[in-house]
Amino acid sequence: MKRLTIPAIRKRKVNGITVEPVVMLTAYTARQAQLLDAHCDLLLVGDSLGQVIYGLPSSVPVTLDMMAAHGAAVVRGSYHAAVVVDMPFGAYEASPQQAFESAARLLKETGCAAVKLEGGAAMADTVAFLTQRGIPVMGHVGLTPQAVNVLGGYNARGRSDAEAAKIVADAKALDDAGAFAIVVEGVVEPIAIDVTKAVSCPTIGIGASAQCDGQVLVTEDMLGMFERVPRFVKRYEEIAETISAAAARYATEVRERTFPGVEQTYQPK
Ligand code: KIV
Ligand code: NA
Repeated sequence: MKRLTIPAIRKRKVNGITVEPVVMLTAYTARQAQLLDAHCDLLLVGDSLGQVIYGLPSSVPVTLDMMAAHGAAVVRGSYHAAVVVDMPFGAYEASPQQAFESAARLLKETGCAAVKLEGGAAMADTVAFLTQRGIPVMGHVGLTPQAVNVLGGYNARGRSDAEAAKIVADAKALDDAGAFAIVVEGVVEPIAIDVTKAVSCPTIGIGASAQCDGQVLVTEDMLGMFERVPRFVKRYEEIAETISAAAARYATEVRERTFPGVEQTYQPK
């Protein structure tokens, strides 16, 4: 299996029609990437790793070093899906030059195919700057978690007409600037429809209805790793229960001295 290319992902939408839905999941580790790889078109090394892996309160403290380390692990663990690495807060907003330096570092150190950054019209120049210099960019509009301190929370966006119009305009600006795909997060369904109709590249929804050209979820969320998840998450497994139950059985067996058993014990020949 040859690794999917970014132009191949871009061509999943032609003349406004979804040719084939884009399947994306997050991955942060090599083994996780191995397990997801065959099923996904894109693996996203999301800065959600701040909360999911590091227990941070938001994605704001995530560093470029963290993204580079986990990005490299995911590229090593995959050979089919194209790998996209999130640019963390503070690594790209100051200027197109700053964004290029950060993105080039991620491409060189991880082997990823593209980067993702948050923001709309304000980031359009940066998206064009990177794309024209050999770095494919995925956009991210609607609920943009790195802006939590401006937005004041993680509620769905676009409930007022002005906010709805801004999200559509933001997506259009990114599309015109050359983004190969755009994540649309946490918006009411009519906006997901408007955005998807307004842009030529595929939209990838998360909490943005079935009307986008693809979907993404945080893998740990959809596996049931956390007790509380946003309403838009569907739990395909209850892996937290599986892990707790396994740890409980192990603990019991250590305490009653039934683990290790004969099968796990070395004996001289
Ligand atoms: O960081 C992340 O996991 C993301 C996806 C939820 C789109 O940006
Ligand atoms: Na992210």
